[in-house]
Amino acid sequence: MEIFILPSEEAIGKAIADRIEEVFTARPQANLGVATGSSPLPTYRELIARVAAGRLSFKDSHFFMLDEYVGIAEDHPERYHNVIHTEIASQVDVKPENVHGPEGNAEDLQVAVKEYDQLIKDKGGVALQILGIGSDGHIAFNEPGGSLVSRTHVDTLTKQTRVDNARFFDDDLSKVPTHCVTQGLGTIMDAEELCLVATGANKAEAVAQMVEGAISAMWPATIMQMHPNAKVFLDEAAASKL
Ligand code: GLP
Repeated sequence: MEIFILPSEEAIGKAIADRIEEVFTARPQANLGVATGSSPLPTYRELIARVAAGRLSFKDSHFFMLDEYVGIAEDHPERYHNVIHTEIASQVDVKPENVHGPEGNAEDLQVAVKEYDQLIKDKGGVALQILGIGSDGHIAFNEPGGSLVSRTHVDTLTKQTRVDNARFFDDDLSKVPTHCVTQGLGTIMDAEELCLVATGANKAEAVAQMVEGAISAMWPATIMQMHPNAKVFLDEAAASKL
């Protein structure tokens, strides 16, 4: 794992965008793994500016999302398909039909999750995956106690994650979905390169565990230690317990 401690969220966004520009300039048909949450937003702002400036293009790429809520209304602004559309996909030149995510409203979720894993493989896999981390060390929606080698699957959200995300649902816990579909840690580990962002003091414990702790399902992000090309981008606060 390579650790970068940078002075601001903007500096982190620029550093990851630099890396994406390098990879996608060399391989214009590479696929990008996109994440929801606030952590990737400075990176998205940089990517949008660079595509607008003609420095970078995703016209031959596929975007693969990490996760989605189960049973959320198709037009809900917090449905992750809609979040990714708004924050990045609609503002760069990726083709709308090339933006993919696990389907949380499929009639048969068990079939849909298998098809999603297969689709990623069929399109050539993910060259670079952007990641955030939950305060409990979850990645995508792989919560503590789950398998470290799982594939895309249906999962139950922990109380902590539902409380953390209630701010997006009128601060009303009863409106936060209880289940999700998520790429498994095994699926995520198949990406050629991982770029994880963590900022703020509330991520410091999860970051310390991820970087220095023993690999354990109780801190799902610790599996990153096994990846041959994992980069972790931190601000001072998130790095404060290292
Ligand atoms: C959610 C998402 C994760 C994300 C996490 C942290 O639980 N499913 O993919 O990493 O939130 O979000 P933030 O970056 O806003 O702290």
